[in-house]
Amino acid sequence: MATLISHSVADTEALGEAWGRAARNGLVIGLSGDLGAGKTQLVKGIARGLGITGRVHSPTFTLVNVYTGGRLTLFHLDLYRLETREQILSAGIEEYLRPEGVTVIEWAERLFGQVHSPQSTVHSLSGFVRRVNIETLTNDERRISYEDFGA
Ligand SMILES: Nc1ncnc2c1ncn2[C@@H]1O[C@H](COP(=O)(O)OP(=O)(O)OP(=O)(O)O)[C@@H](O)[C@H]1O
Ligand SMILES: [Mg+2]
Repeated sequence: MATLISHSVADTEALGEAWGRAARNGLVIGLSGDLGAGKTQLVKGIARGLGITGRVHSPTFTLVNVYTGGRLTLFHLDLYRLETREQILSAGIEEYLRPEGVTVIEWAERLFGQVHSPQSTVHSLSGFVRRVNIETLTNDERRISYEDFGA
């Protein structure tokens, strides 16, 4: 597990941008963290790193936002409104768990279980997953920790 401190929105976006630049086809990034932690800011960076120029915002009325025009397609899911794992799976998200492109999921613990928990179901669902946890430390500071699972 890696941990770093972000001191600003720009720091968080720069981290996402580096991940986007390095992302391989099929990567799934699961984001956890409270309201306003910075999950969507991180997605903005990932999109930029993939070379996507369109506006990034959380899907609210749809399950997924799809951003094309970059090196890989980015699928952006937000599970905030889906409370149980059963609801999530019946919403039809399986195809995004082995994406042709890169998937980022906000509120991923609703699907994968708590971050850094040994009972995590990550392996059974996806190929290659990065689990990310963002903790709010102060107004501008965030502790971002992440760990990779799978192939
Ligand atoms: N270091 C930081 N990294 C990211 N965001 C920060 C940071 N410092 C302050 N912020 C602020 O925190 C907020 C993060 O909002 P964002 O929408 O990314 O959160 P979120 O985790 O996606 O929340 P939600 O659960 O509502 O989707 C923004 O208002 C941003 O300006
Ligand atoms: Mg968000």
